[in-house]
Amino acid sequence: MALLSVNVDHVATLRQARGIDEPDPVWAAVFCEKAGADGIICHLREDRRHIQDRDVKLLRQMVKGKLNLEMAATEEMIAIAGTIGPDLCTLVPERRQELTTEGGLEVKGNLEAVKDAVARLNAVGAAVSLFIDPHPDQVKAAHLAGAQVVELHTGSYANARGEAELQRHLDGIEEAARLAARLKLKVAAGHGLNLRNVRPLLAIPEIEEYSIGHSIIARAVFVGLEQAVAEMLALVRQSAPPRPAEGPRRRL
Ligand code: PXP
Repeated sequence: MALLSVNVDHVATLRQARGIDEPDPVWAAVFCEKAGADGIICHLREDRRHIQDRDVKLLRQMVKGKLNLEMAATEEMIAIAGTIGPDLCTLVPERRQELTTEGGLEVKGNLEAVKDAVARLNAVGAAVSLFIDPHPDQVKAAHLAGAQVVELHTGSYANARGEAELQRHLDGIEEAARLAARLKLKVAAGHGLNLRNVRPLLAIPEIEEYSIGHSIIARAVFVGLEQAVAEMLALVRQSAPPRPAEGPRRRL
């Protein structure tokens, strides 16, 4: 039975489009938790295009479940994480021109820098997740960097066209998830997931948590946020039980 964390960035995107104070992502987080979400995610970007510093502070006060702060591994963000105290920090690559986080973090090629960021965040009490492409080399590097969690980037899977391409991405995600679990990393998955494409992933028992934002907020426009969260939650809870040989799954 996997967990669901909801990313509320896109509520802030709508607010920022008008430069006023609604809709409020903090209110959104309250409704998501009321609907049963296990955690709330927000991404404080360097350019502050959606989530603002004020949002992160208030989310820390309001969120009862897990607060996951997505961030680039910069001095500014490490300092903010130290002040706010999120339960989990997810390190992501960040490029100013991108519409959304486009690729996974290059952990293998930046091992020492990532290791340093993980240690500093752990030292202020935050567990660390690395958002990586589902590739064995990146999983092994995440293990070497000392991360507690890997979030497998499902963007390429979500964009895949045709059965063969879809299956290839699914196989890659499963292989990465199994390797991560063998290395005692907790496994999450996210990016581009919706009510349709999340289903095949649910057969991979190593994936313990899903991080989903855009499709839930988009659906909320039509059915309301609580219903949109509840629908996704009902699906995610149908994930496959642990593989018999590998025993019970850990919870972070
Ligand atoms: N996980 C990470 C690390 C992300 O950067 C994002 C996008 O902000 C998501 C999950 C959620 O992706 P989506 O909004 O496409 O569901």
